[in-house]
Amino acid sequence: MQIRLDKFLADMGIGTRSQVKQYIRKKQVLVNGVLPEGPKQKVGEEDIISFQGKDIVYQKHEYFLFHKPKGCVSAVRDAQHKTVLDYFPENRQKGLFPVGRLDLDTEGFLLVTDDGALAHNLLAPGKHVPKTYFAKVSGRLTEAEVQKFAKGVDIGEKELTLPAKLEILSAETEGSQAELTITEGKFHQVKRMFQAVGTEVLYLKRISMGGLMLDESLKPGEYRALTEEELQKITGQ
Ligand code: URA
Repeated sequence: MQIRLDKFLADMGIGTRSQVKQYIRKKQVLVNGVLPEGPKQKVGEEDIISFQGKDIVYQKHEYFLFHKPKGCVSAVRDAQHKTVLDYFPENRQKGLFPVGRLDLDTEGFLLVTDDGALAHNLLAPGKHVPKTYFAKVSGRLTEAEVQKFAKGVDIGEKELTLPAKLEILSAETEGSQAELTITEGKFHQVKRMFQAVGTEVLYLKRISMGGLMLDESLKPGEYRALTEEELQKITGQ
């Protein structure tokens, strides 16, 4: 596959088409160690392209860790609310979508990609990819809830939920804080699980998925590209 150098650079997220043309003009881009003829020069996977002295690793797909804020819909289009894509600049939005869903009022880890195969793989029910949530709930959580979640609870589906790990962080009569790890993704699953044991979720944030942690340096609404290591972890699921 041969594509124009300016398209390659823009696709790799170096900048917009006009920005990357500037970079080429300013001699900040090299192809196989030499200055390119210009932005129209064709390049392929075998070429080593560098920008400001760093090699650009060709990636067919894009993978972002997004800190979903409250009030953002886990979708690419919505008539009423802001969507995940509204947090990405227009030149990076092409083909991107969120992997799975978080409720409108849930915050936290959302993987955003244009890789349909990876999304399919991570969301396949048989995969049991672990997802951990931090929750503030009403009432006092006890060891009894830990046991119930470990056995599976009835949330009105044909089967009980799969065993889930509840770790209580604080427990007061006025409310408790806990982390819950589940390996399924049923609609409103965490809220329904707490409901099944007589408590109500007041705040919910996903803090990890498939072994990848939410990057706490990302404020709600911010994103960053996955590192090579993170990508390997998630594609090796
Ligand atoms: N479970 C829920 O109830 N809500 C979410 O957003 C995610 C999991």
